[in-house]
Amino acid sequence: MEPLDRFIARRRKWTWAEARLAIHQRRVQVDGLRTNRYHHPYTPDLVVTIDGAILADGPDDAVVLCHKPRGVACSHQRSHEPLLYDLVPPALAHPDLQSAGRLDRDTTGLLVLTIDGALIQRLTSPRQRCSKRYRITYAGVLARDAVAQVARGLVLPDDSQPCLPAELALAPTAAQGGRAILTLCEGRTHQVKRMIRALGGDVVGLHRDRIGGLELPMDLAPGAFRPASAAELALLIGMPREVAGQAVTPAPRPHAGPPSPGPLDAP
Ligand code: URA
Repeated sequence: MEPLDRFIARRRKWTWAEARLAIHQRRVQVDGLRTNRYHHPYTPDLVVTIDGAILADGPDDAVVLCHKPRGVACSHQRSHEPLLYDLVPPALAHPDLQSAGRLDRDTTGLLVLTIDGALIQRLTSPRQRCSKRYRITYAGVLARDAVAQVARGLVLPDDSQPCLPAELALAPTAAQGGRAILTLCEGRTHQVKRMIRALGGDVVGLHRDRIGGLELPMDLAPGAFRPASAAELALLIGMPREVAGQAVTPAPRPHAGPPSPGPLDAP
């Protein structure tokens, strides 16, 4: 049987010392009773809580891929309902599950959920240069030098720091409005919408179809969740394409997201 402090450390990705401190601080309950016993034997029939939140004994290192549907918030706050986290299947649910970066309520596409803070950092910190690709439908007319401005590092009117250099590809368009693909290595709040606005347009549709080297898998329909394979995880974090003997083949097109036979097909 696993001692309580080790169970907590394993589930929370804490050190044993951190787990013991939480027990010592009387923040841990077993079956509704506070305990100060580090070695209380843990068995899966026991309900363990820390600060009132149940510590589920789900899959330990599950990294969950999700195709975020339109209309749900990447938030745990009830006031933001409907919530993405309410759609997570019970087998993958965990009270500490977080998305690596957020997508707006009206944005669709690939999201990674995990309890692993280091992985979230790796996928979201601008220093790690993990790229995210967005397919955009916009209204209005973008500046003639939009692509060059984005490549240099776009200056947003409401931000003192220029954006990191990024890649913008525009579909040739005769009239107003159009489609674009923007690839960014950072994730400021509403960044894509703010960048397109700074360039003279207005985003009317936004879909993320790639994080790092991982494209939205074709089996993930809007609203679907599933654990990432080791090979998909390797693509996410930019490791070689062959991991643990699994060869990774890029998902064939069109995928479960918006069909994309061409590079600039819109969301
Ligand atoms: N940028 C945005 O403006 N919205 C998103 O949902 C993601 C990136």
